[in-house]
Amino acid sequence: MVKGKNVLVTGGAGFIGSHIVDRLAGECAVTALDNLSTGKEINLPENAAFVKSDLRDAGLIQKTIKDADIDVVFHIGANASVPHSTEDPRYDFETNALGTFNVIDACRVSGVEKIVYASTAAVYGEPIRTPIDEDHPLHPISPYGASKLAGERCGLAFKETYGIDFAAIRIFNTYGPRQPRYVMYDFIQKLGRNPSLLEVLGTGEQIRDYCYVSDMADAFVLVAERGDGVYNAAGGSPTSIKELAELMVSIISPGAEIRYGGKTWAGDVNTLYANITRITELGFEPKVGFEDGVRQMIRWFEGANS
Ligand SMILES: NC(=O)c1ccc[n+]([C@@H]2O[C@H](COP(=O)([O-])OP(=O)(O)OC[C@H]3O[C@@H](n4cnc5c(N)ncnc54)[C@H](O)[C@@H]3O)[C@@H](O)[C@H]2O)c1
Repeated sequence: MVKGKNVLVTGGAGFIGSHIVDRLAGECAVTALDNLSTGKEINLPENAAFVKSDLRDAGLIQKTIKDADIDVVFHIGANASVPHSTEDPRYDFETNALGTFNVIDACRVSGVEKIVYASTAAVYGEPIRTPIDEDHPLHPISPYGASKLAGERCGLAFKETYGIDFAAIRIFNTYGPRQPRYVMYDFIQKLGRNPSLLEVLGTGEQIRDYCYVSDMADAFVLVAERGDGVYNAAGGSPTSIKELAELMVSIISPGAEIRYGGKTWAGDVNTLYANITRITELGFEPKVGFEDGVRQMIRWFEGANS
């Protein structure tokens, strides 16, 4: 059980990390570590400790794990932006690949009981079959996908070599309050600026498999308690960007024109739709329906920007 343990959440001031902190802070001694590059201290509850530190600083990571006598690590911190990874691949690799090594090696040295790593659907690249299961070939097409896969492989290799208890969740598109980027955030911003027109990158045909962020936080706790190896986590129902755009327009600005630009960004994958049988068998059950989740995200955005 995670309850009662000393827990470290790297990237704890970020979007997914802060929801894991929220989920655990009442029942564990939680330390959040973050360099605040995209995360915000305001995302953290008062009953969590905060350490401002960088994943690239191996010594500080080790000190944090040792000083707080950490039992369980949720390694969530990363450059999480595909476009940023193409603009600054060095930061991306230093943070996601070497930074992950720093965390895992510090866990090995301190005898941490369990590490759960935030991997990504981007490790699959453009799929050759859908829904994508965990045995699907790995063929990342962005620096981000490659650096995140390096982190995952490092954990699995340390598990083999040193017997550390490491598990990874390959996260598909997660959304909800505090999300700092990506399509829903863009759509809300664009409709705020121009309520009569939504310009959409790409054709609208791209498929995503959305998971609400509190469900994703539950997946992490579940895998910390019972998981072993690699799991996909997603909502389990494919949604096109066109369907998403139509839903968001109907909620925010009914009647607005939706215009598709055709071109998308480098490193973008067309179809991401997960087979979640493995994590479902472990007990994962997404609770927040898509439309309900989208409405909650819009409410958060309006509150945060009013
Ligand atoms: N949101 C998604 O849909 C999604 C999908 C797949 C994988 N992921 C993974 O989930 C994790 C969290 O992503 P998110 O969406 O919450 O993004 P996020 O940007 O909100 O969270 C990342 C956090 O890591 C911190 N960080 C970045 N570089 C750091 C460094 N060098 N040292 C210390 N902290 C650093 C940031 O400040 C931020 O708080 C990432 O590992 C990401 O790769 C997210």
